[in-house]
Amino acid sequence: MPSKPLRSVVASVESRTKMHRRPVLAKQVEALARKYAAMETTGEPFGTVVIAEMGQKLKERGKDIIFCAESIISTRAPDIVIEETQRNLREMAQGQEAPFLGLPELRRSICDRFQGLYGERVDWRDEVIVTSGSMQAEYYLMAALINPGDEVIVPVPSFFFDIPVKLARGRCVYLRLQASDNYHHDERRFEKLITKKTKLITLCNPHNPTGRVLTSEELAGIAELATKHDLFVMHDQVYERIVFDGRPYTPMVKFAREIGDRLISISSFSKLFNMINYRLGYAIGPPEVIRGMEMVQAFSSMGIPSLLQKGAVPALNRDFEDKHILATIARLQRARDYAVERLGGLEGVTMMKPEGTNLLLIDISSFGMTSMEFCKYLLREAGVACAPGVAYHAEGHVRISLGSERSEEAIDKIATAIQKLKARGQGPTA
Ligand SMILES: Cc1ncc(COP(=O)(O)O)c(C=O)c1O
Repeated sequence: MPSKPLRSVVASVESRTKMHRRPVLAKQVEALARKYAAMETTGEPFGTVVIAEMGQKLKERGKDIIFCAESIISTRAPDIVIEETQRNLREMAQGQEAPFLGLPELRRSICDRFQGLYGERVDWRDEVIVTSGSMQAEYYLMAALINPGDEVIVPVPSFFFDIPVKLARGRCVYLRLQASDNYHHDERRFEKLITKKTKLITLCNPHNPTGRVLTSEELAGIAELATKHDLFVMHDQVYERIVFDGRPYTPMVKFAREIGDRLISISSFSKLFNMINYRLGYAIGPPEVIRGMEMVQAFSSMGIPSLLQKGAVPALNRDFEDKHILATIARLQRARDYAVERLGGLEGVTMMKPEGTNLLLIDISSFGMTSMEFCKYLLREAGVACAPGVAYHAEGHVRISLGSERSEEAIDKIATAIQKLKARGQGPTA
């Protein structure tokens, strides 16, 4: 038999490949990857890292850069944590891995702390799970709870709660909070978005990116709604207790009686204890939900390094925490006051005075640039890396983390750069 000419063999292989080649990535991951690829221009979904990386490159080339893009309060993990980690290194390095839910000693400490601070008893055996940062807890929660098509109400501006929802093939229903209304969480506006498919509401308190601290009235309204419509509430409280001007911090768990078995409280060691590199977070919730999250952990990461969990235990000592938090609040409140005073006086810039957190969100929409363009300008002109609002559903805004030891200097540089825009004829339009 005469053999086929090579070209036609290639053509048939090509057409076969085309015919049978399925999309490689799952739709929701493909959509995310496509957005990520265009992120340098659009800033979605995580323009913060683009600006931070650009800043890093400039620094490597010798330019002095102050990093205020990523939400970092400090990178100085407490000495007691580092010492405890070192002390256990040999034993833990050669020992057994921790259970999927986390090291019992750490789970007990988390639950004791929670009860001591907020008065709610939590059973360490089945109501808490330790994760790799709170971001992973949020992913696990969505993976455990959300069926394709389930709706999740996400108030925006917001941290990335929508992404794990989408990865779980849920549908995000966004509720736009109003700056003019001090980003008030009005339960009547939430209720209008509830359908038969609504399963969960996400809450962030204290709030990233606005620095808002929710009142107990707002929280009570949402708790009531959750009860009435049988909804879950995810309360991200990674900035818990970091509140200014002596205002009270109310966690959602204060409404445990109303909300019953529908609340999942998520927190982290990253912000409160400057332990970003430990990547430790946790979720507290009803046993059934925690069991679901345990399944996801068991068959994905198989658990969190026990050495790091062991090292984290002393951070939860109440005396240590109280002192540490008081010092953190004092430092951040000073930084906030300076920033609000200095930037608040600039023509074209408006903002809500943060009530907590290390974050300040400024409205720069009158300058006619996208938040990504504005951040690139600030990086070039001021040598300060800031986060574009677009990454947090807040286009027209720039988020500044005030955790840096050079925060005041950064604010001065930002202010000078903004003033220069006017001199160049690129000032705010009325
Ligand atoms: C509101 C909020 N939740 C969760 C995270 C994730 O933090 P981690 O995974 O380090 O605990 C962050 C980080 O910036 C955050 O701001």
